[in-house]
Amino acid sequence: MTASATTSMAPATLNAQLSGGAQVTPMDGPLGCTISGVDLSVMPDADMARVIREAFLAYKLIVFPDQELDEAALVRVSDLFGEPVVHHVGEYLDPEFPQIMRLSNNVVDGKPLGAPNNGIYWHSDQIFRERPMLATLLYGVRTPAKSGGDTLFSDMYAAFEALPVAMQTRLLSLKAVHSFVASYERNYIRARTLSAQEKADNPDVIHPVVRTHPETGRKSLFVDPDSVTEILGVSADESAELLAFLFAHIEDERFVYRHVWQQGDLAVWDNRCLMHSATSYDENSEVRLMFRTQTQGDRPV
Ligand code: SIN
Repeated sequence: MTASATTSMAPATLNAQLSGGAQVTPMDGPLGCTISGVDLSVMPDADMARVIREAFLAYKLIVFPDQELDEAALVRVSDLFGEPVVHHVGEYLDPEFPQIMRLSNNVVDGKPLGAPNNGIYWHSDQIFRERPMLATLLYGVRTPAKSGGDTLFSDMYAAFEALPVAMQTRLLSLKAVHSFVASYERNYIRARTLSAQEKADNPDVIHPVVRTHPETGRKSLFVDPDSVTEILGVSADESAELLAFLFAHIEDERFVYRHVWQQGDLAVWDNRCLMHSATSYDENSEVRLMFRTQTQGDRPV
């Protein structure tokens, strides 16, 4: 698939390939689409799977509303977006389907049903790996009705393209250090603390500050405030200043879409060109239960 084919894919072109009432509708925002009229509890046929892949590359985020998925169906759907990767935090995995991590504030018999307060900061999933995640799928089993728990998405193609050319040129030559340990200690300390061996087994990785998408060929910003510790080849002050600038830029509302969840929504997004952030909700009065899978990506270049 060429870059121009994927980035200019109009909804009419995609909809012309669909049958049975399925429809692609762009979100009211800078990124994302919904695909309605599809029942993902049965595996999509080849035509539908192709349209889903094209929409994924063109819109970066797809929401499939009104889904009734059991764990097996969610794992099957995840296969459409690559090879599922089991999350490194074993405490919150589904016992029967370890590809699924549960996110929740719910506690059953004194045990958390899922990871609480997960991902409330801008990030790209597992950017601290040599091969960070390609897609993340998030299924709303129970979603807060009144108090938040939305997910924010920011378009890193647009964020890069909006920068002055001199800044783009500068960033293209830079690399950043990403730390698994820094990310874990920020987010999963409530699961357990890392052992010295686990820290040694998960060394820092270096990625370009701007990556080229392996399928569309487009360039996107690829630093997140979750795991980056420094930009290489510049002074500590310059690194801190540049990162502060980029982290503020990522949040610019021109690039951001806020997804307000409905129960039964399945969202799937492309971590190679989007950052996302969960948001808080009233954990004392509402329950949020999400099933999450992720698929293997390439080494960023
Ligand atoms: C995530 O960061 O993987 C989950 C986001 C969310 O729960 O809204």
